[in-house]
Amino acid sequence: MGIFSKRKIWRTGTTQDDSMGFNGVSAASKRKWTRFLPLFVAIVVIAEIASLSRLDMAKNAAMVDSWVDLFYGSPILREGNGGGSKTGTGISINDGGIDGISCEQWLEKEDAVEYSRDFKREPVLVSGSEKEWRTCDVGCQFGFNPGQQPDAIFGSPNQGSVASVLRSMESSHYYPENNIDLARRKGYTVVMTTSLSSDVPVGYFSWAEYDIMAPVQPKTEPALAAAFISNCGARNFRLQALDALEKLNVKIDSYGSCHRNRDGRVDKVETLKRYKFSLAFENSNEEDYVTEKFFQSLVAGTIPVVVGAPNIKEFAPSPDSFLHIKEFSDVESIAKSMKYLAENPKIYNQSLRWKYDGPSESFKALVDMAAVHSSCRLCIHMATVIHEKEENSPRFKKRPCKCSRGSETMYHLYIRERGRFEMQSIFLRSGNLTLEALESTVLNKFNSLKHVPIWKEERPESVRGGDELKLYRIYPVGLTQRQALYTFRFKGNDDFRTHIETHPCAKMEVIFV
Ligand SMILES: *[C@@H]1O[C@H](CO)[C@@H](O)[C@H](O)[C@H]1NC(C)=O
Ligand SMILES: *[C@@H]1O[C@H](CO)[C@@H](O)[C@H](O)[C@H]1NC(C)=O
Repeated sequence: MGIFSKRKIWRTGTTQDDSMGFNGVSAASKRKWTRFLPLFVAIVVIAEIASLSRLDMAKNAAMVDSWVDLFYGSPILREGNGGGSKTGTGISINDGGIDGISCEQWLEKEDAVEYSRDFKREPVLVSGSEKEWRTCDVGCQFGFNPGQQPDAIFGSPNQGSVASVLRSMESSHYYPENNIDLARRKGYTVVMTTSLSSDVPVGYFSWAEYDIMAPVQPKTEPALAAAFISNCGARNFRLQALDALEKLNVKIDSYGSCHRNRDGRVDKVETLKRYKFSLAFENSNEEDYVTEKFFQSLVAGTIPVVVGAPNIKEFAPSPDSFLHIKEFSDVESIAKSMKYLAENPKIYNQSLRWKYDGPSESFKALVDMAAVHSSCRLCIHMATVIHEKEENSPRFKKRPCKCSRGSETMYHLYIRERGRFEMQSIFLRSGNLTLEALESTVLNKFNSLKHVPIWKEERPESVRGGDELKLYRIYPVGLTQRQALYTFRFKGNDDFRTHIETHPCAKMEVIFV
């Protein structure tokens, strides 16, 4: 802990946040402090090497192993207190070997059972077209390898030991097999759809594809709204809504083949920029099915009037950034709102406030998911499942995962950032097995690693934030993104304690914003 807390202070000094432990230190001494940084980093590194080699010495002395074999299951360890510590059965461990090995160090070592598959040497192999992403945190290969059976294959369900993957961005109202339950019943192992409840969601949103923070342009068009609807037919009420808006004297310039009154050969986003509103009418009202109609409207800085996903507000950059026609009977009041906003530029401008102040945290947390390509997320999903299977084996079941010292128990947890595969160790004490302790331990850990969030390069510069890590969610590995982002919460400290006690070496995932 000593090393971590020193590094935390160092980091805090550079991010000038006084709330984390730099209180009372003047700006001048902060500056002085920073001048010694290189030396300080060196000391930290040396300290770390020193503690590592101490561990190695102990290992060489072969004391730890033999001792551990005797006491598998309920280890009792004393942390560096100099004198020979006694265990319950009278075997004493003196300064020579075990001294200086903390519960943390012991657990790191004992719980580090090696997985039989090293994904660096033997990447997750998905049978299909060539890879289409830049990097992935786990070995991940798309294509064919004559020397290796693929882990997953697209299309064709029921492939025995090879996972069959359904990937589609279409609405299940048109392609019923995209319904997750139906896909599972048909024999698909991994479902990749727009649904945030699918195994590996494939959304239309991403920072890379949409310049979401593009500046707002003057609204020069006399018509209130622009529409780009290519097909009047749809399994929802979008055509009726369009008709009804027109009847209510909402002037609409239609560039798509449905009710066309304008030449459609224009740049869609550039055109939308000149209108106060955009009709983002999807062809079905399905949860999480939010297409480019909505995101292009956000890029253009026009207010989307939505017929579509009932949960559209989860996809919006701020609560008042859109208008939602939930059902046909809403059309009249939405028409009124459009006219009211159009006549009150100040209030209209409030709806676009997020363009100046940045989108909400929940919006960032959702869109950041796409900072990692869905093909890479598929590989991470596959590799995680492969590891979890192996964790049911006796070798893994034997991991102690906790360490008792006197009346206190130290729990070993594993944590990683969403979008990454490799886990980091953290430790929580039974006397402080709280959500607050979890959050501060996770932050300390990632700060000590000088962790850079995986979305850092993807987000537009204006919404990247500073160097400080900010936690948005921590949840057990294996939850869907719908659960992780919206529905799952530990119900207080008791619930969290129960989870840790019933999940040895619990694996958690964290989302930073
Ligand atoms: C809208 O609000 C922003 C932020 O307050 C301001 O910079 C901008 O000039 C406003 N635009 C209009 C057209 O009033
Ligand atoms: C428990 O953990 C929190 C957060 O790390 C910390 O502020 C608090 O002092 C700890 N309490 C005890 C009794 O260790």
